[in-house]
Amino acid sequence: MKTEVLEPTPENIRHAAEVLRAGGLVAFPTETVYGLGANALDDNAVRKIFQAKGRPETNPLIVHVSGYEMASRLGDVPKGITDKFWPGPLTLVVKRSRSVPDSVTAGGDTVGLRCPAHPVAMALLESAGVPIAAPSANRSTGVSPVTAQHVLEDLDGKVEIILDGGQCPKGIESTVLDLTSSPPSILRPGSVLASDIEGVLGETGIGQVAGVPKSPGQGHKHYAPRTRIHLSEGDGRKLVESLVETGHKVGWMPIGLHEMEGAETISMPADPTEYAAKLYVALRKLDKLGLDAVVIEKPPLEPAWTAVLDRLNRASSFD
Ligand code: TXA
Ligand code: MG
Repeated sequence: MKTEVLEPTPENIRHAAEVLRAGGLVAFPTETVYGLGANALDDNAVRKIFQAKGRPETNPLIVHVSGYEMASRLGDVPKGITDKFWPGPLTLVVKRSRSVPDSVTAGGDTVGLRCPAHPVAMALLESAGVPIAAPSANRSTGVSPVTAQHVLEDLDGKVEIILDGGQCPKGIESTVLDLTSSPPSILRPGSVLASDIEGVLGETGIGQVAGVPKSPGQGHKHYAPRTRIHLSEGDGRKLVESLVETGHKVGWMPIGLHEMEGAETISMPADPTEYAAKLYVALRKLDKLGLDAVVIEKPPLEPAWTAVLDRLNRASSFD
């Protein structure tokens, strides 16, 4: 299959929508990361997603919708929370309706739904007129793509069309909120924080995330580059120095501006939102250099950093 990378002109979006409706795969930008999309109501099309990514069929997919109305045909979505957070980076896990194929939900009785806040994703959904099942458009367990080039590097020849909408502004995957547990729980932290959601849920609040991950995609080794990652308390300069001295090729991601002889340095922003927007670009860039190790300065243990800390912990885990 020849993969076409297309500008998101109205004509190309119509073409991509036709490819989707005919059962093909289209990668598209969202405000979080690029998604690898298929018509969520077409079981055969959905199976192609798992093949292209090398994803285990036990890991359910998020379904993207154009709004509340489309969502309510797929599952039991409460209106209050969608009014507040959609379109936006919040995925709601709810009881599914029968119209959702088993391949999407991995046979479970819940479905993850999200309405993306990105003009290209929205135009594609509206033109296709069907819900779009889309995980992140990377090889399974790897780092999510935030540019069309990242998608091409992972999935060239495995997807019909990549709509190139430039770099994704948030740069980190959506918050996944399970509304079927009591109280609701966050299965994956993202830029919508627990404190943002708590205000809307009222008295029930948010429960702890269970020790055994309920999201199959939350196994430890996920969002991980190939290069070995060390998360260091403090800026990690000492570790970088000793690795360089012992002849290792090292990458370094300190927070703020630093220089060091002999290490590939990418200075990371001190603001969590800006850090998230740059994280996957930095990890993918360093991963291409064939380094022996990458040392990352651990951000502060504060609520605003929860999503970034989660991804850094996973990227540096060896399970
Ligand atoms: O920002 C995002 O959410 C991106 C963009 C493309 O929308 N999508 C994304 O999809 O990150 P994916 O498949 O890479 O991650 C979805 C996560 C997985 O950890 C999956 O296990 C979980 O959501 N999930 C999906 N449906 C679920 C369900 N019914 N119950 C529990 N977890 C679910
Ligand atoms: Mg993913």
